[in-house]
Amino acid sequence: PSTHESAPDVRVERDGGLAIVTIDRPKALNALSPDVLSALLGVVESLAAEGSAVRGVLVTGAGGRAFVAGADIRSMAGLTPEQGEEASRLGHRVAAAIEGLSAPVIACVDGFALGGGLELALACDFIYATDASSFGQPEVHLGLIPGFGGTVRLPRAVGLARAKELIYTGRRIDTAEAVAIGLVVRSFPDRESLLAGARATLAEVDANAAPAVALAKRVLVDAAGRRTESATDLEIAAFGDAFRTNDMREGVAAFMEKRDPVFTGV
Ligand code: CAA
Repeated sequence: PSTHESAPDVRVERDGGLAIVTIDRPKALNALSPDVLSALLGVVESLAAEGSAVRGVLVTGAGGRAFVAGADIRSMAGLTPEQGEEASRLGHRVAAAIEGLSAPVIACVDGFALGGGLELALACDFIYATDASSFGQPEVHLGLIPGFGGTVRLPRAVGLARAKELIYTGRRIDTAEAVAIGLVVRSFPDRESLLAGARATLAEVDANAAPAVALAKRVLVDAAGRRTESATDLEIAAFGDAFRTNDMREGVAAFMEKRDPVFTGV
């Protein structure tokens, strides 16, 4: 295996046709700042440019506590509605680039997969996780809504009613519940067995006809996403609208000041 620093905060390790992409910003629980998202987009685009040389991809987080704890809240604090839309659009570009890879992509979650982190995992083909992980879309706690595809992909993964419950409450669920509702496909006792399990699955896939797998992926992604573009446009606009509210400013400020938010409903 060879490792090289591709871009700040995102590492790619190659082992033949396997690429292991690691979000490496542990001090902020791997939160997705615009820089991290741009780096991730660059990494995914360069994997795409390699074509069939890339046979499988694992996406994971560094530091032992989080996959990704969300979009970077600090970088969103002062955005205008238009900048909010831009922030959302960048996350959507990353998700679309991952879905556009012809090789299968497994999200390997060990720790928090929250907000934009869960949305990143949902853009992968499926999610494997350690038993000690947790999942949620806590954006409403901040006066925000999911902005990297959660309103579109979460209901596809778990059904509309469960997605509504998760998004309206912002509640965190553990791996056992995530497996029970079909959000996580397989669980593992620890990080080592998680990565080994994901590699074993990719090896099993790699024994099959690569063009067939790529074609199947294309149809599975596009069929599920037939109305993705119009659906994500709705999400982008609504995410920008959240930045018009006082509650969003209060929610984000409260997080940064480590206090409970006082929401007023406007
Ligand atoms: N953005 C920026 N910084 C974050 C972050 C985020 N999403 N999540 C965690 N951090 C930072 C914390 O601010 C803290 O930094 P400092 O040490 O500099 O204060 C550091 O990571 C460690 O976090 P905590 O001290 O909070 O750790 P904890 O163990 O007490 O709590 C946690 C862990 C429950 C995951 C908590 O960090 C948390 O609630 N994080 C925010 C989760 C969240 O709301 N995610 C959604 C973001 S909005 C979004 O994603 C929008 C979208 O859809 C596009």
